[in-house]
Amino acid sequence: MSKPKRYLITAALPYTNGPVHIGHLAGVYIPADIFSRYQKAVGNDAVYICGSDEHGVPITIRAKKEGKSPQEIVDKYHHLIKKSFEEFGIDFDHYSRTSSPLHHKTASDFFKKLYDKGEFIEKETEQLYDEKARQFLADRFVKGTCPKCGYDEAYGDQCEKCGTSLSPTELINPVSTLTGTKPVLRKTKHWYLPLDKHQEWLKKWILEEHKHDWKPNVLGQVKSWLDEGLRPRAVTRDLDWGVPVPVKGAEGKVLYVWFDAPIGYISTTKEWAEKAGKDWKKYWFDRQTHLIHFIGKDNIVFHTIIFPAMLKAHGDFILPENVPANEFLNLEGDKISTSRNWAVWLHEYLQEFPGKQDVLRYVLTANAPETKDNDFTWKDFQARNNNELVGNLGNFINRVAVLTNKYYNGIIPQPGKFNENDLQTLDKMRRYPEVIGNLIERFRFREALTELMNLSRLGNKYLADEQPWKIVKTDPERVQTVMFVANQMATALGILTEVFLPFTSRKIKQIFNIVPSLGWKDVATKQNLILPGQQINKPRLLFEKITDETVQQQIDKLKKSKQQNEQNQTKSIKPDIDFDDFQKLDLRIATIIDAEKVPKTKKLLKLQLDTGIDRRTVISGIAQYFSPQDIIGKQVVLVANLKPKKIKGIESRGMILMTENEKGELIFIRPEIQVLKGSKVI
Ligand code: MF3
Ligand code: ZN
Repeated sequence: MSKPKRYLITAALPYTNGPVHIGHLAGVYIPADIFSRYQKAVGNDAVYICGSDEHGVPITIRAKKEGKSPQEIVDKYHHLIKKSFEEFGIDFDHYSRTSSPLHHKTASDFFKKLYDKGEFIEKETEQLYDEKARQFLADRFVKGTCPKCGYDEAYGDQCEKCGTSLSPTELINPVSTLTGTKPVLRKTKHWYLPLDKHQEWLKKWILEEHKHDWKPNVLGQVKSWLDEGLRPRAVTRDLDWGVPVPVKGAEGKVLYVWFDAPIGYISTTKEWAEKAGKDWKKYWFDRQTHLIHFIGKDNIVFHTIIFPAMLKAHGDFILPENVPANEFLNLEGDKISTSRNWAVWLHEYLQEFPGKQDVLRYVLTANAPETKDNDFTWKDFQARNNNELVGNLGNFINRVAVLTNKYYNGIIPQPGKFNENDLQTLDKMRRYPEVIGNLIERFRFREALTELMNLSRLGNKYLADEQPWKIVKTDPERVQTVMFVANQMATALGILTEVFLPFTSRKIKQIFNIVPSLGWKDVATKQNLILPGQQINKPRLLFEKITDETVQQQIDKLKKSKQQNEQNQTKSIKPDIDFDDFQKLDLRIATIIDAEKVPKTKKLLKLQLDTGIDRRTVISGIAQYFSPQDIIGKQVVLVANLKPKKIKGIESRGMILMTENEKGELIFIRPEIQVLKGSKVI
């Protein structure tokens, strides 16, 4: 047997600014989980770590939004996220958080070491400052147009459209996301990591040494940054939430979240090692360790360039062997978004589909955005469950268990002589561990899962070919052999499903009394996985059909969230105005004295208003909601000093204030009781 390899497997630390959704699972945590479970299954020394990323601007923004302190926010979401991962069988060896004292110390020491080694540049520059919020605007506190691609919602640290990493001063027309105001420039001092100094070795290391084993999407992004030339990047911020910068003259400054968060991998390893009685240094300093970072594509630059440059500058650490980044998962054709509530949240899924974790794990793996963005749809979810899980895997396991119970009271029969089909089938079965394993090693989880299902398909085909139920009366001896072979395959599936579908694996193992000592490699090498005379249990349901009605409910739920969102968007408050601006408006109560449709239009009514001071014509787009005769005599609120405007050739003098009811229909804003015409609205 070959010597066990040492793996340190990391999954991107999720921001604790919201719960986790299917995009997180599909992009990062499931692939890493499969990889880790597999490495453990084949006997390697693998550690899978993660934790909450609790610093950074998104958290302070969420805190402001919810009217809470950042600490309250991270506490709330840390526990929710941790629980979701546990519930979905994401089998971390340790899940930590970056607000922990150990992390603060580790990150702080890391910075200090680089500082002492002279690895930073200290620079005073002009930065964007929000005079109203009295705060510098870094990262997500500022939005503007991307200088690279023109996307006008780019953030101060990154454009999410084209992936370019930015600094706030590069944004065109920057606006503060805190107050909506235009920032000014103000001087401040920061420390920069001179990435340009690292350009050469990074290029050699990634584009030459890892040319063949890193994913094309990762290499592509790295190449475009290197081609453009790396620049020094600020690793400190003027903020009050984060790890304080541990040097003199840096009061009120914290480490940039992307400086401290990846160090979270190190502090988490330390915490785990302490708990497990291991030496954390082996996992970070020994060149034999395989360090693998699982991430989403928006994290590529940080894990391939910035963090490696930090590790190199520090000096002692190993570098990642691979950074298998996934693309994005969309939902029903739209980008998943926390703020727009366009997501399938894990905690909600579990309430609506209790016990069906593996169905989601299956669909997200089968549909993982490994090489390009992919779409999750509820119809596909239903089809994969019904056709593949129920129709293929569930069906095979169930048939073997039912027939074994029916023919032999659940006792594995003694086989007779194997025929060609038996031998070939068993031989094919024994090749699956290697076929699946090779795909997992190359981060091709979708294909690996397809192969697993092919093993189940092979089982179904074997039963369909041999038809034991047809010959059980006439050739019971042959049926013993067939059922013996079928039970070998069911047992193999019980073992191999473990890395993809841990809950299902547990059930299969329970049905067939599979002992824990039986492992991945045994499927390939052991003569018999389950022996004659061994007792199995009664079958239990692995999967059940999902109805049209159930998925329609999910689709409707999403539709609702889209509608709400559209409403909310118009609800977001406009930038502040001065009282003087408000005073300029002349709002009056006026009475509608006549109304008629504007010919050849659908929406417009021509209204005659009596303002108490004058009579005037106002054109109003309310014809779909009111018929003329119903509104004559009503009092309304008029913007009386709006500049006259010609609409369909008619001069309209003013505008009537309206709002929308729940159905989105326009309704008047009116005084509660009849008042004098011309009364001012104040
Ligand atoms: N919190 C980041 C995100 O959700 C990922 C941080 S990964 C780490 O995009 F390396 F910084 F930890
Ligand atoms: Zn851009």
